[in-house]
Amino acid sequence: MNGNPRENFVDGNTKLFGVIGNPIRHSFSPDMQTKAFQALNINAVYLPFLIEENHLPDLLNAFKITGVQGFNVTVPYKERIIPYLDCVSEGAKSLGSVNTVKLEHGKWKGFSTDGLGFVRSLENAGISLKEKRILLVGAGGAGKAIALSLIHQEITEITILNRTKEKSDKLKSLIKNIQSDLPVFTSFTNGSGFDILINSTSVGMKGNQCPVTDEMIEMSDCIIDIIYNPPQTPLIKKALNKGIPCMNGIDMLLYQGVESFEIWTGQKAPVNVMNESLVKSLKHV
Ligand code: ATR
Repeated sequence: MNGNPRENFVDGNTKLFGVIGNPIRHSFSPDMQTKAFQALNINAVYLPFLIEENHLPDLLNAFKITGVQGFNVTVPYKERIIPYLDCVSEGAKSLGSVNTVKLEHGKWKGFSTDGLGFVRSLENAGISLKEKRILLVGAGGAGKAIALSLIHQEITEITILNRTKEKSDKLKSLIKNIQSDLPVFTSFTNGSGFDILINSTSVGMKGNQCPVTDEMIEMSDCIIDIIYNPPQTPLIKKALNKGIPCMNGIDMLLYQGVESFEIWTGQKAPVNVMNESLVKSLKHV
């Protein structure tokens, strides 16, 4: 904590942050980020903004006028927000997606913390990516963010499998443009197995579907499902049954928020407070 907590949490100097998306009502971020501001005695609140597509062109001006300092971007605007920003970070530019926006010297700057959030969640769990053979399932927005962050982590090789093959091929080209010497495969071969299998698809959020075969699971030493609701997807259940170490996506969600907080405030985020908020929010879904 920075000094004594202020008596009135909201006053005339309170700064405003938020998250834009549609739908937005179920977002965990408003509680998590507001509690983080509170814990560091920062005079700010974070609100959910339900935005219609046709409001996007006016939004940044409206935010500037009303004093918004920064915001997160979620589905379906992570790509569509980019043309309205003044600039984007290198990482967000190659990804073509922005989930964090900060007002810097009167200019809106976009960042993506999705990939970094993933890498930090692994670091926190003591899982090293160095010299690892990765099987990444899914090449949508989340898969792309994860792949582009993994290639800076000295992995040995990556296999990307996606229902729509064009998308995994496109992601392969993108990776090759950045790291031409990294071995990238887009079809499954049961060679020497994988150190880490990552599910970045939405398969497992509902119903009993598993995005990979039992063979792929058994060939992997560690399994990560980025889905956090339900906390145990069919994939995670299978991994647990087979005694394979596994992890769900709650920490990725936590650390992408931690990274956003640190971009806005320049301060180290209160990770435990933010985690507590997420755990509580998940109990109510
Ligand atoms: P996000 O931003 O959450 O990644 P997305 O960009 O829509 O969302 O990507 C969803 C991912 O889940 C994609 O890899 C998608 O595969 P396609 O590219 O073929 O659409 C994958 N996915 C969704 N439903 C699926 C299903 N029933 N079976 C296999 N893959 C599925």
